[in-house]
Amino acid sequence: MNTQNDWICPNLSANERNHLCLAGEDVADLAKRYGTPLYLMDEARIRNRAQTYRTAAEQAFGSDSRILYASKAASFKRLYEIMRDEGIGVDVVSCGEIATACLAGYPMGNAFFHSNNKTDADIAYAMDRGVGFFVADNAEELYAIDSEAEQRQIKQKVLLRLTPGIDPHTYEAVSTGKVDSKFGFATQTGQADAAIMLALSLPHVQLVGYHCHIGSQVFDATVYLQTLEVMLRYTATVKKKLGFEPKLLDIGGGFGVRYTSNDPEVDIAANIAAIGRRLDQLCSELKLTKPEICMEPGRSMVADAGMTIYTVGSVKDIPGYRTYVSVDGGMTDNARVALYGASYTVLPADKMNEDRTLTVTVAGRCCESGDILQRNVLLPQSVRRGDLLAMLTTGAYHYSMASNYNRIPRPPIVMVGCGAPYLAVRRETYDDLTALDQ
Ligand code: LLP
Repeated sequence: MNTQNDWICPNLSANERNHLCLAGEDVADLAKRYGTPLYLMDEARIRNRAQTYRTAAEQAFGSDSRILYASKAASFKRLYEIMRDEGIGVDVVSCGEIATACLAGYPMGNAFFHSNNKTDADIAYAMDRGVGFFVADNAEELYAIDSEAEQRQIKQKVLLRLTPGIDPHTYEAVSTGKVDSKFGFATQTGQADAAIMLALSLPHVQLVGYHCHIGSQVFDATVYLQTLEVMLRYTATVKKKLGFEPKLLDIGGGFGVRYTSNDPEVDIAANIAAIGRRLDQLCSELKLTKPEICMEPGRSMVADAGMTIYTVGSVKDIPGYRTYVSVDGGMTDNARVALYGASYTVLPADKMNEDRTLTVTVAGRCCESGDILQRNVLLPQSVRRGDLLAMLTTGAYHYSMASNYNRIPRPPIVMVGCGAPYLAVRRETYDDLTALDQ
């Protein structure tokens, strides 16, 4: 085993052929069979995360708690089937996600519909498919939900998205930055109070709870404890003022994952247990009935289940500057580097035994100089056309953020880890790409 390997997820290993393996499957074999660029996803890891979340939530919050998979992280039919099997709810943000969940036969009563701008058509589409819960973001939406529900003679279950004014990265409560958000109703400006009164007054809206989401890539419970405190103190104030106490409290998603060995590992169960203890304390202190708690993990459910395999096309050394290694994918299958400057681990997938002493910049194939997949990557000196590179932790916000820039087809998704590898999403073809052109 090469000592350079610092496995950032337990589903990674190398075999006797010095090939990288995901869930024990040789990724070079998979690249040969399915072509590159290729998204791989470890189904066993996804199921393990789902079970970890569900068990921890049941223990910490009670059996009425719900884990909702934030399907914006990765939305394709097979994932909704897996979530259905694992007893996980889903958070959907568009009719496209709803359509995909329906295609999977997902029980839509367990779906929570987010988004800060649901059109009338979206609301109608979601209601017609039996989406269980709407998370209302603004007053216009509340009126529209009421009107669509009236037409169907139903009372729609609704949560209000509230912004408790917490900055996840400074842990600073009452940060104006977070009150100043396109999402939700601020608890500190009186707007949340007004929204609650409005929701309670609408005959076809059944206000069941509050929702909040503080941020993404959060590595410990501190920010959740603070959020819980703000939300429950606010709940107690509203109870006193308006006599309304929510049945449900959705505390959002956001636990972080390891993109590189610099990122800490989050102990999901321990963090949820800490949130559960604080919930009990606060409810008894504030004399509140313990609400049913929902959490909406996206990234931490699927990110480290995934990796992307690329084939090297060229190695270009510019003396005195740098060495560019170009691969057959790029910002079309990984938007996160260009958008956020995100860091990743890149491995020489079919040369895992060779010393990595050549510092390179891995470049994508798009006609845009910003299409750089990662800088300062260490690769073997022998790197050349035809070699395979693996980019780790690409299960979340990759396929779901992929584009067809430069008319590049999206890669397929192959699932591993539960029996024989299988195709969950096929590779886009040129016919797919031109299918809409009239
Ligand atoms: N719930 C709500 C209301 C959200 O807005 C999000 C993420 C989640 C749950 C899930 O958060 P997670 O557990 O995945 O951190 N494209 C960005 C991430 C955007 C996250 C948006 N909201 C990225 O690639 O890093």
